[in-house]
Amino acid sequence: MSHTPSPFNTPLTIGPTTVNSRVMLAPMAGVTDVVFRKIVRRYAPESLICTEMISSNGMVYSKRRDARILDKNEQDNPIAYQLAASRIDVLKQAADWIVEDKNPDTIDLNMGCPVKKITGNFEGCALMKDLDHAHQLISSLVAHVDKPVTVKFRLGWDNESKNYKEFGQMAESAGAKMVTMHTRTRAQGYKPGVDWDALGVLKQAVNIPVIANGDILTVEDAFHVMTTYGVDGVMIGRGAQGKPWIIGDIDNALKHGSPQAERPLQEKLAICLEHATAHCEYRGEEIGIKEMRGHLPFYVKGFPGASTFRGQLTQVSSLQQVEELLAMILEESEKRNLAVAV
Ligand SMILES: Cc1cc2nc3c(=O)[nH]c(=O)nc-3n(C[C@H](O)[C@H](O)[C@H](O)COP(=O)(O)O)c2cc1C
Repeated sequence: MSHTPSPFNTPLTIGPTTVNSRVMLAPMAGVTDVVFRKIVRRYAPESLICTEMISSNGMVYSKRRDARILDKNEQDNPIAYQLAASRIDVLKQAADWIVEDKNPDTIDLNMGCPVKKITGNFEGCALMKDLDHAHQLISSLVAHVDKPVTVKFRLGWDNESKNYKEFGQMAESAGAKMVTMHTRTRAQGYKPGVDWDALGVLKQAVNIPVIANGDILTVEDAFHVMTTYGVDGVMIGRGAQGKPWIIGDIDNALKHGSPQAERPLQEKLAICLEHATAHCEYRGEEIGIKEMRGHLPFYVKGFPGASTFRGQLTQVSSLQQVEELLAMILEESEKRNLAVAV
């Protein structure tokens, strides 16, 4: 049987760097930490995986180049370290430390974060309101580091000021080697209503790779945005919460044309427990378990009978309790399946 090579199987070129995947993990503060990334990586060995947003100010003013947020697994390449910054000197210092200590494949600049604490500091999406300053930040970093610089942004500040096309062109002219667009405005936050059509406009306007982001949840979504708008890849955020296998599954399906069958509940719950155990080992059980409360409910979304347990998962106080609750969910689900079968 002859196989036609998949157009999704070609490497993505980010300046001098090549990545053998067009499916990426989005940066998510409080989610894409070193523990989560290790599990994602097992399923997606070739994907570009992004850290949480790292505050350049935080690093430089505290003189900390060993903060936990910077931790990296040995097998954690290709990796993008994402920085938030507004001051050029501070950005350069933070980037120097990361390049020296972490060997990132790319450095991503956050120009899309809508959170007031960030925009109030003239970082994140606030930079979409000052293209000159954004240009200076990007071009200064490009001239300073020997790594491809990429930029992640939104459609614009609000509905009245959607300037993503000009912003993408500005980023390219400043030397960015790839742009990722979350297809919402800052004012939209995370409300429903992405504008994927804008991806086509941006793709036509620049000559660097354009990565689609926003509500891409399935292989069909990824296929749709890549074929309809010609974008070069997809970045998945919330779709990976409680589904660390999804980046790899979508990548495989795009490359080889055979979608991964829905994973059995037992396997999903085993991965959930693995995540909780590894997180508790990393942070110590007392803190680790509190932090896991935000992750656990995502793993049991949509399972028959799980809703009654979801609330309990947000209040767990030990790893043993997690294990017991997951076992109860599995048992409940099996009982229901049996009832349906009979
Ligand atoms: C909990 C959470 C944390 C996030 N943190 C970051 C961040 O640190 N940097 C960033 O650029 N975007 C961040 N985002 C935005 C995502 O990267 C992504 O742009 C957004 O969620 C839309 O993609 P999605 O629909 O695939 O989730 C965050 C989103 C969520 C839900």
